[in-house]
Amino acid sequence: MAEGRPLLKQKDLMVISYSCSAGTKPTWILSLLLILVAETQVVHGVSPTGFLNIDCGLTNRSTYNDILTNLTYVSDREYVEGGKSYNIMAQYMADATNEQEKTLRCFPEGQRNCYTIPSTSGKKYLIRATFTYGNYDGLNSSENGSLFLFGLHIGVNFWTTVNLTNWGSPDTVWKEVITVASDTNISVCLINLGSGTPFISTLDLRKLDDAMFLFLNPSVSISYFIRLRFGEVDDFITRYPKDPFDRFWEAAHRYKFPWRNMTTNKEVRRLPGNDNFQVPTAILQKASTIDSNYSEFNVSVRVSNNIDYRSLELLPIFHFAEIGDNNPNRSFDIYDDENLLFDNYRPQPFRVESTYNSRRFLRKKGANFTLRKKASSELPPLINAFEVYSLVRMDNLTTSSDDVNYMKEVKKYYSLARNWNGDPCSPREYSWKGLACNYANGNKNPSIIRVDLSSSGLTGVLHTSFMKMPSLENLDLSHNNLTGPIPDYQLNSLRVLLEGNPICSKVKDRYCGNKKNRTAIVLIAVIVPVVFLLLLVLMCLWRLCWKGKSEEQEDYSIYEEETPLHIDIRRFTYAELKLITNNFQSIIGKGGFGTVYHGILENNDEVAVKVLVETSVAESKDFLPEVQTLSKVHHKNLVALVGYCQNKKCLALVYDFMPRGNLQQLLRGGYDSILNWEERLHIALDAAQGLEYLHESCTPSIVHRDVKTPNILLDKNLVAKISDFGLSRAFNAAHTHISTVAAGTLGYLDPEYHATFQLTVKTDVYSFGIVLLEIVTGQPPVFMDPQTVHLPNWVRQKIARGSIHDVVDKKLLDQYDATHLQTVIDLAMNCLENASIDRPSMIEVVSVLKRETIDNFNPSKEECHGCRNSKAVPVDDLWSFNNKLRWHLLSVWIYRWGIRNEPHFWAS
Ligand SMILES: *[C@@H]1O[C@H](CO)[C@@H](O)[C@H](O)[C@H]1NC(C)=O
Ligand SMILES: *[C@@H]1O[C@H](CO)[C@@H](O)[C@H](O)[C@H]1NC(C)=O
Ligand SMILES: *[C@@H]1O[C@H](CO)[C@@H](O)[C@H](O)[C@H]1NC(C)=O
Ligand SMILES: *[C@@H]1O[C@H](CO)[C@@H](O)[C@H](O)[C@H]1NC(C)=O
Ligand SMILES: *[C@@H]1O[C@H](CO)[C@@H](O)[C@H](O)[C@H]1NC(C)=O
Ligand SMILES: *[C@@H]1O[C@H](CO)[C@@H](O)[C@H](O)[C@H]1NC(C)=O
Ligand SMILES: *[C@@H]1O[C@H](CO)[C@@H](O)[C@H](O)[C@H]1NC(C)=O
Ligand SMILES: *[C@@H]1O[C@H](CO)[C@@H](O)[C@H](O)[C@H]1NC(C)=O
Repeated sequence: MAEGRPLLKQKDLMVISYSCSAGTKPTWILSLLLILVAETQVVHGVSPTGFLNIDCGLTNRSTYNDILTNLTYVSDREYVEGGKSYNIMAQYMADATNEQEKTLRCFPEGQRNCYTIPSTSGKKYLIRATFTYGNYDGLNSSENGSLFLFGLHIGVNFWTTVNLTNWGSPDTVWKEVITVASDTNISVCLINLGSGTPFISTLDLRKLDDAMFLFLNPSVSISYFIRLRFGEVDDFITRYPKDPFDRFWEAAHRYKFPWRNMTTNKEVRRLPGNDNFQVPTAILQKASTIDSNYSEFNVSVRVSNNIDYRSLELLPIFHFAEIGDNNPNRSFDIYDDENLLFDNYRPQPFRVESTYNSRRFLRKKGANFTLRKKASSELPPLINAFEVYSLVRMDNLTTSSDDVNYMKEVKKYYSLARNWNGDPCSPREYSWKGLACNYANGNKNPSIIRVDLSSSGLTGVLHTSFMKMPSLENLDLSHNNLTGPIPDYQLNSLRVLLEGNPICSKVKDRYCGNKKNRTAIVLIAVIVPVVFLLLLVLMCLWRLCWKGKSEEQEDYSIYEEETPLHIDIRRFTYAELKLITNNFQSIIGKGGFGTVYHGILENNDEVAVKVLVETSVAESKDFLPEVQTLSKVHHKNLVALVGYCQNKKCLALVYDFMPRGNLQQLLRGGYDSILNWEERLHIALDAAQGLEYLHESCTPSIVHRDVKTPNILLDKNLVAKISDFGLSRAFNAAHTHISTVAAGTLGYLDPEYHATFQLTVKTDVYSFGIVLLEIVTGQPPVFMDPQTVHLPNWVRQKIARGSIHDVVDKKLLDQYDATHLQTVIDLAMNCLENASIDRPSMIEVVSVLKRETIDNFNPSKEECHGCRNSKAVPVDDLWSFNNKLRWHLLSVWIYRWGIRNEPHFWAS
């Protein structure tokens, strides 16, 4: 290999260059030579579940174990129709990177040819295809100077182009896409673009963890661009089994001065719930940095000429972990060209953070990132791993699934060998020959309106699938060899042409191009089967009813009854709840009111289903009026009620699912899930705004009665939403209503309410004061120190004894803005006044917090990206400003997405 021919050459894609610069930049650029050899570690065993390894064109055996990975490769016969298998030219055999590259399947016929690989709907998959031309056809296509390229589709959507023009014959290109399966199979299609015959060498399918790549959905996939690991690495490619998902991590050999290797044996962990990338620890234990005389280095991503960059939208992802001992002083800025992307970034000791922004794909030919040491930092920047993906939009609609299934039955029954593969109607230019589709249904899937199978050598009977296709209008089966009866297809408006089939010899009717003689024969042929069918249907129905009663299959519909009230949100049946919660399998919380389950709606929205317990069902007279009230309450900081269920069998509320759990968990979560100061202030502001809305914008006001950290939930973007209105009642006659219903939780109880049982909005203000203290201190409302102590008293004592800084959560590691601390503590203490009249209203609380959050991130101080030029923020822009801020925070903190299935999200 020293002679330098890359075996696996993935760089259809780009050239990566690095440069470092000292204060007075002596710059140099190293272009990355890609010499790649597959991982040599061997694991004894069969392929992990969720792996499918296809060696395309394999003919002399049906399966084998790969020597390098010991993954079991299978022949592609089951997964594709058509095409021809070839071996690469003998002269390249010996050098082939691995066994799979020795054979290939090419597709000289047809514009589109598809592999159909099994999948589970809703699961995420990494699909990798490799291409080694190896001059298999002797045409020297990749080296003779002419254009040699073809396209790839994932399902009905364009994925990428494979451009082998001016490529070495033995070189290998690979492409990867990460996608969400929308059906029980995924098709990978090769598209002939008129510049050479498409072919493929390997197709790998790897099922990913559900918690990975949470920003993907059925209409957004990503195509791999590059994936690098840094530090001292032996293997050119790190893959399975070191990476359990068999991603290819290329070694970025940054070895020459001023690059420095970093290595640790200590475990590098990730936050629980930070499962978006699951970068293997072995990779994170190594990093590259630069000599301390230098201050910055560049990571440039350039698209090579072989790729059409015009439509590219790039998503860069950095993985950082501080692996130097003794928590060294290292912080740096990350620039994308001259734009500050991340300010004052400080890698976390032995914990990975992945910084990216899935909402901002970069639209350009390449990207040039600079990691620049902060003046205050002792050490220069480091980098552990780096990935770039490009966006693949999955916007094209597939043919309606009924039509697809019926056409597949037809194809199978008549053994049609007509390059009918992939989706029948979509994309339009590759639709199946002989079909006409209706694409004009707006947002609905295209449907098949005409099928022309005339003179196609069909034998057998007229297949009933045609009759079932809901949109089919014209069916031409003339001049085939169809026999048997003509079923009744007058039920729909289907026009059929059967002329020239034996089927017409017995029955002369209009379908056979002979309108003269619609005789009794037709009647018999039609009516007899109809009557027979009717009888059959009746019998089946009767049997079903009879059986339904005796078997455990309960008919839940009998429990459903009319609701007397008009409620705008969705009413679920018990059967529906059972379905969306997958038979109440995943419990995400338990509380006084009942159990909360995780559920997924038909549109894939996640929900939390709160099933109220039996006893509360009995006392549920208030339930529907309560639901009616709640269904009218909408605010961005209140957990949205999606629907409810009420009948003899169930009493339940269905809410939006909040993937980040509750505030209590986040605050107490240990060093693994530290909310920074800005995030804390934002959460406080969010919660305050939710309460302000309940108090001020609802008539009559709604008193929450049980404000506490477990009732403040966080969505995936860390936006706080108030939950659990279980104790709330529409609150009558402003602020004076006397209630005898016990409310609240120990530690949060308003002392005045305790004494007088006067429940007012100020009761919530008191509880919010406790929440605010918890946010600052990270302490629970009541704890042992060494005796039982109430949080406000503890804070007062600490402040009296020394400095206010002693109360701040130690986990913040002194990274907070001291000038604002005083204001926030003052605000909390103000909320905790004994006399409710002395407490501020939530309006005042919100306005103080707003001031704090904005001051805190005043652009002139913090250089908040995206708002650097605006010093004074007009009030109207407040929200959009906050959004920007969130964007800024998000881009750094985004890794916290996706805590799932943790208990007590909904503790009441
Ligand atoms: C691969 O795994 C199989 C199945 O466990 C085992 O029998 C075989 O010895 C392994 N082969 C190699 C080369 O490791
Ligand atoms: C099958 O073919 C491959 C290359 O095409 C070769 O390496 C392998 O030894 C062959 N196996 C058998 C069993 O003939
Ligand atoms: C293939 O094309 C290259 C470049 O044009 C040429 O150098 C080489 O000799 C050709 N090989 C064959 C076998 O035609
Ligand atoms: C969708 O289909 C059209 C043709 O019907 C095609 O031109 C277009 O590229 C497709 N879009 C995507 C995102 O694949
Ligand atoms: C980093 O590791 C590589 C590979 O072992 C080695 O060649 C290189 O000299 C190391 N660099 C430094 C600065 O130690
Ligand atoms: C394919 O690659 C060749 C050679 O780099 C380049 O000239 C051509 O523009 C590329 N074509 C496309 C469609 O990317
Ligand atoms: C990247 O940006 C840095 C500074 O912004 C510049 O010095 C360097 O030349 C750029 N590199 C490339 C490859 O454009
Ligand atoms: C039509 O089918 C019958 C049997 O189904 C067969 O005997 C006959 O040869 C076929 N005729 C043609 C023209 O294919």
